[in-house]
Amino acid sequence: MTVWVEGATGKAGRRVVAALTAAGVPVRAASRHPGAARGPVTPVRFDWYDETTWAPALGDAGTLFVKGLDSDDGAAALVARFLAASQAGRVVLMSAAGVDRTPDHAPRRAVELAVQRSGKRWTVLRPNWFLQNFDEDEWVFAKALRETGELYAGSGRAGFTDTRDLADAAAAVLTSPGHDGRGYTITGPAALTFGEVARVLAETSGRPIRLRDVTPAEHREHFAKSGRPEAWVDHMLHLFELVRAGAFAAVTDDFRRLTGNEPRTLAAYAEEKWAPAAVSPR
Ligand SMILES: NC(=O)c1ccc[n+]([C@@H]2O[C@H](COP(=O)([O-])OP(=O)(O)OC[C@H]3O[C@@H](n4cnc5c(N)ncnc54)[C@H](OP(=O)(O)O)[C@@H]3O)[C@@H](O)[C@H]2O)c1
Repeated sequence: MTVWVEGATGKAGRRVVAALTAAGVPVRAASRHPGAARGPVTPVRFDWYDETTWAPALGDAGTLFVKGLDSDDGAAALVARFLAASQAGRVVLMSAAGVDRTPDHAPRRAVELAVQRSGKRWTVLRPNWFLQNFDEDEWVFAKALRETGELYAGSGRAGFTDTRDLADAAAAVLTSPGHDGRGYTITGPAALTFGEVARVLAETSGRPIRLRDVTPAEHREHFAKSGRPEAWVDHMLHLFELVRAGAFAAVTDDFRRLTGNEPRTLAAYAEEKWAPAAVSPR
């Protein structure tokens, strides 16, 4: 059965596409830039803000992998309308760790509820912070790490997870029965501080990398240079506040139970991406 994957060019979505195609599943890879799709997929143009793209993008897909838009308070309404317009019977939502403990009106929780009330068979995946933010998300961490060796962050711990693990968990859920009405929290094997991350990246790369333990005001000033919308800056500051409050510190067994594998470690990710002779894997 064909799976429609939203955000197919993103850090998580493109690995979900890779995991599904490796398993021989037909994929409709959706993004605003279908030309960027890789592998044996059907690339389709899809824009949350252009409803004329929705039906042609969906085609005959029976199952949907959806993430929705983060820093848009209208995301839940969009997701509800989109699901009502689709013929697919099943939806797997990529939300984020801890969202199920936030109030119903919080934007990401509202997206989860829109999915759960859609009338479709649903599953929610809640990954922790992605390790790939350190090298692939230019403004969250990557640019400053590359240019000055500074890891702009704060205190608190997170169970950083490799997006390939998220993708493998998603593929397991998307290709096997028994997941309807369930939520899974996907984490790495340990809850680490940003200071510990900086130390591992420095030791592995041989470069001087250090934590820049910024106040929320300094962080806002840093993110403001990105030119990204204020809603994105607010969203990021809120996430760092949640890390400080311990919202991402829990480590779960869900990845092991879904895939039978051990979650990838920070050290393994660093060796692949940060070692001087690293060759970039998928
Ligand atoms: N980063 C983390 O640490 C983390 C942790 C837990 C959960 N999450 C969740 O993961 C999601 C982000 O996933 P990611 O990090 O893989 O994303 P990403 O790398 O930031 O990529 C964003 C994706 O969204 C697509 N996109 C952006 N605007 C769009 C629009 N208007 N219409 C259709 N597609 C659009 C982009 O495709 P095009 O540009 O090609 O259109 C791209 O594929 C968020 O919902 C977040 O809550 C992230």
